[in-house]
Amino acid sequence: MERTLVLLKPDCVQRRLMGEIISRFEAKGLNIVGMKMMHVTPDLAKQHYAEHVEKPFYPSLESFITSAPIVALAIDGIEVIRVMRDLLGATNGCNAAPGTIRGDFSNSRQMNLVHASDGPEAAARELHLYFGTGDLCDFDHVTEEFMR
Ligand code: PPS
Repeated sequence: MERTLVLLKPDCVQRRLMGEIISRFEAKGLNIVGMKMMHVTPDLAKQHYAEHVEKPFYPSLESFITSAPIVALAIDGIEVIRVMRDLLGATNGCNAAPGTIRGDFSNSRQMNLVHASDGPEAAARELHLYFGTGDLCDFDHVTEEFMR
């Protein structure tokens, strides 16, 4: 079992696509163990996108990610880091395959609706940025209660 950090970005929230996209995560059988609507501050953006801060596109990326609320999700599943990135499709919605989330709903590299951690180290680092230890739920326990 792995855990990954997913952000529903400002374009996803503003376009009212949250339910549609979260439904795909649930339909795939992934477990949402944390969910938080919040604003990303410029400081958090710089920590989150630390590897991109010096790139020419960073000012535009920071302006976008801080422009409106996002929803941070902690999601568990078997090989969920890869599975999530497969569900999302290519970073640039313009290149993302039909059937993927970005392929179906985005035509942009910046406004690509969803962020997901790109590996185990990034997942651990990014989860820590958005969630404290007490913020996450024991999904399996809750499921058992309702399956009786
Ligand atoms: S890179 O440069 O190839 O490493 O970047 P990439 O991994 O493709 O993308 C990392 C995140 O940066 C965003 N991005 C951009 N935003 C605005 N303009 C441009 N040109 C641009 N290029 C990349 C991209 O949406 C990725 O965001 P996340 O949140 O990780 O999906």
